[in-house]
Amino acid sequence: MIIAIDGFSSTGKSTVAKRLAAALDFIYVDTGAMYRMVALTAVRNGLVKDGVLHESALLDLLPGLTLGFSRGEHGENLAVLNGEIVEADIRSMEINRIVSRVSSIPAVRRQLVAQQQRMGLGQSLVMDGRDIGTVVFPHAELKIFMTADADIRAGRRLEELRAKGDHLVSLQEVKSNLLQRDAEDQARLDSPLLKASDARELDNSHISPDEVFQTAWNWAKEKM
Ligand code: DC
Repeated sequence: MIIAIDGFSSTGKSTVAKRLAAALDFIYVDTGAMYRMVALTAVRNGLVKDGVLHESALLDLLPGLTLGFSRGEHGENLAVLNGEIVEADIRSMEINRIVSRVSSIPAVRRQLVAQQQRMGLGQSLVMDGRDIGTVVFPHAELKIFMTADADIRAGRRLEELRAKGDHLVSLQEVKSNLLQRDAEDQARLDSPLLKASDARELDNSHISPDEVFQTAWNWAKEKM
């Protein structure tokens, strides 16, 4: 069984996806982390200058990338790039600024979508992203599309960044980055962010994480 969770940035997709996967004993796949690992490769190799990405040089590095996940001591999901745990590195504002640009490159999407589809062979999973219900698994048994008010999303994301020690970034900067990423994700030509016609919408602005989980759990049980 495949559960596809798509939606705008910082709508709580990964929180509910992780909980659902743990409760159902399914694999959880965070596809945003995969695009972030490619963005990190671009940054580390000096391919982003003044916000401009050297696209062809990044494409040359793609075949050498191994993107994976492992479990931390407390069961947390960790992004692994060529054997190195990069979970903290991929969540910075520097990566936030460039990741939508990286994810708009068709050759990057082709490679990552193929890997995501292979992950779904023979095992049940909960996968979150932007194109899971539309492109990666158009026949997913359950599709959820998450939304939330932009101010609420920005406030939650700011708290996360503060908890990780980033005290320089402002609420305004976080909000404008979110809105810009949403706009770029919706406007790109290759598999833009959009709600699949058969997805169920879940607005997470004014309900608790427990209520979000309960709703998703009920929908999953119906399908099972
Ligand atoms: O979910 P996230 O914020 O970690 O995603 C990072 C970026 O990657 C986001 O700006 C859009 C892009 N993305 C995508 O294009 N397709 C996906 N399936 C997942 C993420």
